[in-house]
Amino acid sequence: MTVDRERSVVFGEAVEQYESARPGYPARLVAEVLDYAPPGPVLEVGAGTGKATAAFALRTADLTCVEPDPRMAAALRAKCPGVRVEIGIFEEYVPDRPFSLLYSAQAWHWVDGETRWDLAHAALAPSGAVAVFWNRYGITDPGLRDALAAVDARYGVTTSSLHSDTSVRTRAARHELADDPRFTDLDQRAYTRTDRYEPARYLDLVRSISAYRILDPGTRDALVRDVAALVGDGVDLTLVTDLTLARRRA
Ligand SMILES: C[S@@+](CC[C@H](N)C(=O)[O-])C[C@H]1O[C@@H](n2cnc3c(N)ncnc32)[C@H](O)[C@@H]1O
Repeated sequence: MTVDRERSVVFGEAVEQYESARPGYPARLVAEVLDYAPPGPVLEVGAGTGKATAAFALRTADLTCVEPDPRMAAALRAKCPGVRVEIGIFEEYVPDRPFSLLYSAQAWHWVDGETRWDLAHAALAPSGAVAVFWNRYGITDPGLRDALAAVDARYGVTTSSLHSDTSVRTRAARHELADDPRFTDLDQRAYTRTDRYEPARYLDLVRSISAYRILDPGTRDALVRDVAALVGDGVDLTLVTDLTLARRRA
């Protein structure tokens, strides 16, 4: 899997929309990841504005975050002053200690697919845990979902849109780990909840997604107007967080 570098750094352009509109992660997921991992230092890859970091920081004394975008990192530092923030991509990060847990929320697909498990293995202590997870945004009303997917198609947004199936990321992580003899104890969990998005927040959610951010601004504005015309007084979402867990062999 190759990574589109230009696309991977578009989030910082929309840091406010990102922070206000992106959902966080269930407290139960954070508790279960920390229960699965042995005690010790924790590493987060692609921490962004700290949507996952804040919850992990409450229960982790030693947390290091790798985040390449300085605008996202500034928001992260403001929100989570107790964590260490390393600015840069994970591919260039040199771990200064063996980590008991490496986790990545909505970001592991941005790390080079050729090397990401080598990097994770090198960063982890023996028996250290890896946890990668992504949110899936399901539009609860199937008619609205189809209408929004048709807007995406009209503007040529065919992959990784808000209205497309992103479970491919979880399936890729699971297959890669299952095929990698350096990892064991593979486990999959899913956490489901519902949320109602008011129109303005839903439009910010659209603006925070890289598939739309890479459009030229005029095209993106037109797409957002078409989405706005469909969402009425709000959107009910069924949010599923897919978690993949594994352990570095001792
Ligand atoms: C979709 S955001 C997720 C942010 C945060 N973890 C969250 O859950 O909201 C993806 C993040 O990965 C970061 N990123 C992109 N490429 C990366 C890389 N090669 N190494 C580490 N982080 C990367 C981006 O800057 C961005 O902050």
